[in-house]
Amino acid sequence: MSERMPMVAGNWKMHKTAGEGAILVQRIEERVIRLWDRVELVVCPPFTALKSVSTVIELDRLQIGLGAQNVHWEDEGAFTGEIAPRMLVELRCGYVIVGHSERREFFGDTNETVNKRIHAVFDNGMVPILCVGESLAIHEAGGTESFVRGQVRAALEGVTTEQAERLVVAYEPIWAIGTGRTPTPEMANDIARSIRATVGALHGPGVAQSVRVLYGGSVKPENARMFLSEPDVDGALVGGAALEADSFADIAESAL
Ligand code: 13P
Repeated sequence: MSERMPMVAGNWKMHKTAGEGAILVQRIEERVIRLWDRVELVVCPPFTALKSVSTVIELDRLQIGLGAQNVHWEDEGAFTGEIAPRMLVELRCGYVIVGHSERREFFGDTNETVNKRIHAVFDNGMVPILCVGESLAIHEAGGTESFVRGQVRAALEGVTTEQAERLVVAYEPIWAIGTGRTPTPEMANDIARSIRATVGALHGPGVAQSVRVLYGGSVKPENARMFLSEPDVDGALVGGAALEADSFADIAESAL
C-alpha cells in the first residue's frame, strides 16, 4: 500500500457563485465525514467564491482543503484583473491549480509563466497542483510521454527539493477533459509513473515517492475506482462531477 495520502480535488472552473459555493461545500461535508482522515479533499472554487467557501470551512471546522484555480506571480502591482498569492493565503487557500490546459489554451499560460506561478505559490507557503497533459494530436502521434515530461521539467525549473516534496501534479490529457473519453487506467498509470520518474530525476527517489500524481479528465463515479486503484495514481482532479456533492463524494469514496 502506498503511504501517500490520496487526494480528490474538485476544480469548479467558472461555476458557482459565492452563495452556491457555500451550499455545495456544506453538502459535500455532509456526505464525506467518514472519509476525513483517509482521503484529502480539496475544492477549488472561482476567486469570487473563495471567501464564502473558506468561511464555511472554518466555521463548521470542515476537513476540506481550499484551492484557487490560478494566481499571478507578483506580490502586488499594476496588473488589472489579477490576483496575488498573499490574497489567497489570507483566505486560507492551501492549494493553487497552476497551468490548467484551459489557461494554457485560452489565456496564454506558457511553460515560463507556469514556472513563475509555481515559484510564487511555493514561496507563499501554498502547494501547487501543477496540471500537465497532451493534445489529441500529440496523443495520436505517440508523443505523450516526452511532451508531459517536458512540461514537468519546465514547470519545476529552480524549485528546491524541499518544495518539490510537497508538489501535486495532475495529469490531464486535453482530449479527455469534458469529453467523456479517457485513457485506459494503465495508460494513465504509465504517464503518472513517468511524471514521478521525472521529478525523481530532478530531486531524487525520496521526493519521487512523496509527490502525489492525480489523474484528471472525465472522472466520474463510474470510472473513478479504475483510475484510483492504479499504483502511481494518487487521486483525481475532477471537473464536471465535482459540481454535485453526491458525485464528488462518490469519487472520493473510490479513493479508499
Ligand atoms: P472534467 O472532469 O469535466 O473532464 O474536467 C477535468 C478537469 O479539467 C479538471 O481540472
